[in-house]
Amino acid sequence: MDRRAFLTAAAAAGLAQVVTPEQVFARAAASQPAWSLAVADVAGDIPRQPLRRIHGRPPAGLAGTLYRNGPARFRRPGGDATHWFDGDGLVRAFRIGEQGASLEARFVDTFKRRQDTAAGAVITPGFGTLGSDRAVIGSADDTNAANTALLPIGGELLALWEAGSPYAVDPRTLETRGLKTFSPDLAHMPFLAHPRIEPNGRVWNLGLAGRRAIVWTLEPSGAVERTALIDLPRASYMHDFTATDRHLILVLQPLIQDRMTLPFVDALSWRPEEGTQVLVLDKDDLSKRRLYDLPAFFCFHLGDAWSEADGTLRFDACLDSTPQFAVHGARDLLVGKAGRNGVSLAMIALHPDGRAELNRTPLTAEFPRADPRRAGLARSKTIINTVRTEGRPLLRGVGVSDWRTGKADLFDYGPDQCAEELLFVARPGDDSELGGWLIGTSLNLKARATELHVFDAAHVADGPLCSWRAEVGLPVGFHGAWMGG
Ligand SMILES: [Fe+2]
Repeated sequence: MDRRAFLTAAAAAGLAQVVTPEQVFARAAASQPAWSLAVADVAGDIPRQPLRRIHGRPPAGLAGTLYRNGPARFRRPGGDATHWFDGDGLVRAFRIGEQGASLEARFVDTFKRRQDTAAGAVITPGFGTLGSDRAVIGSADDTNAANTALLPIGGELLALWEAGSPYAVDPRTLETRGLKTFSPDLAHMPFLAHPRIEPNGRVWNLGLAGRRAIVWTLEPSGAVERTALIDLPRASYMHDFTATDRHLILVLQPLIQDRMTLPFVDALSWRPEEGTQVLVLDKDDLSKRRLYDLPAFFCFHLGDAWSEADGTLRFDACLDSTPQFAVHGARDLLVGKAGRNGVSLAMIALHPDGRAELNRTPLTAEFPRADPRRAGLARSKTIINTVRTEGRPLLRGVGVSDWRTGKADLFDYGPDQCAEELLFVARPGDDSELGGWLIGTSLNLKARATELHVFDAAHVADGPLCSWRAEVGLPVGFHGAWMGG
């Protein structure tokens, strides 16, 4: 007699208060809020499947792949990840072509994932997960979840995290090729998840180690053009930085690493009395630097920066008043608790006379993106996720905010949806700012399915031009990249 038959027979005989494993799982699922699908586990890779078109028609001339990354496995029988940022990275490919659209997804084959799989428990320490002393850790590469963003370069997709080297992934098969070592002397050097890409394809990035940073410059081919080590005024937590065509801009928020402990987030102290500093470096001479002061704020993400005729530097940012979400909220998510997240759009100006100015708006905003053809150059529009739902985490709308008019062109997917990042894709032959489409995904909690949407970038409020639905509902991810063709 197998176990299920035994349990069923025992229950039928009234021998005990026996419940089957299926009943246990069903009860556990019923006690979870509907949005918990956004942080659910994916058991394994998702073979290629067609997407079903549920609305509209794809615009003529749109062909390519939206690659997205995000954590998708948090729980193991012997112990779970305890922070949203510590799930295993799952690379998704949403392909759009004449034959329709399709989805496939594959986990990045990281050392961390192998180690945790072998242990049957999440033993590798992470951003907010303590891990176990059973874990083997030789360098930051061994804790890399490769779950945050993707950089297509040199015929590869680089799966990025905050510390350690990128992982190289085959853009066609999504197979992991291995850790990306740019050169032997740069092995294990950190490479942040938010590189800045000039319109000509040159890539700038940082890697952080306390008050030291490596500045990476990559050629459009992916080869290293230059690296430099710099000192920072403080060891701020920095998820992102920004750049104009001539400057690197580092926002040094008062969330400061002041001790060595695990997990990493527990080594950070929030010191709002020390304010926020902004360090500006000259791309051509990193020793030329200026430092500005702003009131304290917390942020993950910045928009592309630009300089104005009078020398003022400007960039937008998605700010919160405290790091509550990074420290606590992203832990609460994994246990079904919806924490507070007060992130909103702001504009920062750094004036030539040394004054810095912060203008907050009331517009809820995360995942700021812009027209990549204008990276580092003057622009007026910011692509965002927006619209909060009371009592539920994660945003449910998307849109474009226009700094020139002060207006926002927004679309609300509705209370059953979790919005994900939108990317801009240029319409062939149209070089106006946001002359093209916005492409992004959402998680439909009611249909328990991931959806892919294309908007006209100039008319977001009209809703998607075309939407497709997958057969699976993948957890909400972070950042993506578009590859045309
Ligand atoms: Fe990010």
